[in-house]
Amino acid sequence: MQAAPDALLRIENLSRAFSSRRGLSSLKLLAVDRANLTLPADQHEIVTIAGESGSGKTTLARMILGLVEPSAGRLLFKGRDVGRIEGRKQRGWFRRQVQPVFQDPFATFNPLRRIESYLYETVGNYGVAPRRAADEPIERALGAVGLSLREVKGRYPSELSGGQLQRISIARALITDPSLLIADEPVSMLDASLRMSIVNLFRELKARQSVVYITHDLATAYYASDRVAIMLRGWIVELGPVQKVLGEPLHPYTQLLKTSVLEPDPRQKSSDRVSLAASDDTTFLRVGCRFADRCPRVMDICRGVEPADIDVDGRMVKCHLYTDGMAAEQATAPALASIPT
Ligand SMILES: Nc1ncnc2c1ncn2[C@@H]1O[C@H](COP(=O)(O)OP(=O)(O)OP(=O)(O)O)[C@@H](O)[C@H]1O
Ligand code: SF4
Ligand SMILES: [Mg+2]
Repeated sequence: MQAAPDALLRIENLSRAFSSRRGLSSLKLLAVDRANLTLPADQHEIVTIAGESGSGKTTLARMILGLVEPSAGRLLFKGRDVGRIEGRKQRGWFRRQVQPVFQDPFATFNPLRRIESYLYETVGNYGVAPRRAADEPIERALGAVGLSLREVKGRYPSELSGGQLQRISIARALITDPSLLIADEPVSMLDASLRMSIVNLFRELKARQSVVYITHDLATAYYASDRVAIMLRGWIVELGPVQKVLGEPLHPYTQLLKTSVLEPDPRQKSSDRVSLAASDDTTFLRVGCRFADRCPRVMDICRGVEPADIDVDGRMVKCHLYTDGMAAEQATAPALASIPT
């Protein structure tokens, strides 16, 4: 008998390279660069991925969903290598198990189509139940988001609020009873007043599935998640329990993200302030730390040597401030040229 997998999701040194146009030439960048993340099999978790625009969050999410092929590394779901899941039956199993929740509930639904048609279509597309028995899984999924088929039937998207549409969008993802939801900025298009209700919903859903929650909003991340991964230019630079990473961030970039959501402190010296604006694509190619140009604690070593992933106090931090006594060669990045696009 095959042993039960010890992880729901295991991401090992996962990378994705893209070519980015720069005038007449093109530049190869690692949108995700040797990411490591494991979600356990024996308990459900909400893991937030946060970071500035262009840091690789969506690319990582799309690799987990099997929509973007990794350039290097491995992605195991319930012990199976996602890149090697072949055959209609196995692919169908994977697609039912890992479901996306889309960002924009207003764009998800065609204004001329009745809402319930999406739900029946999902039941059919994934072979969840025959048409005559489709109401049952739809009721179950709508019930999980606090709605019912009676409330939804016959209605068009314009007749529902953004919050209701996002609940229905989440219900659509739940129809297949997935083990993992990948929610890429699921509340960013909603009014602030509605965000918390959707985030609360994810907390309730944790009873049945794990969630990868991608957001720019550290307040909802702090409230909703068990662990958080902070991304910077393709790297995961800090990863650990949310109370540690967002409560007492160690990486200078996480510290910057955290202070940037608070009111600016007029007592702070201007030389201590760092820009939150994403730097241009060439930072992907920089030797050493990709935050060196913006880091208030930059040291000589940061400009020449890539920091390693260091375990500090129960979390991972990728920063030279924590690399006591580490040999410089150990922290040197592999050649980008060796990774295909
Ligand atoms: N299909 C693609 N072709 C070329 N470059 C891409 C492609 N997809 C993403 N990239 C590049 O990869 C990097 C990471 O993009 P990604 O969309 O994953 O970032 P993100 O963290 O989700 O950003 P945002 O917060 O704006 O959604 C960016 O530099 C982006 O331009
Ligand atoms: S490695 Fe250096 S530049 Fe990078 S975050 Fe740490 S201190 Fe700052
Ligand atoms: Mg994105």
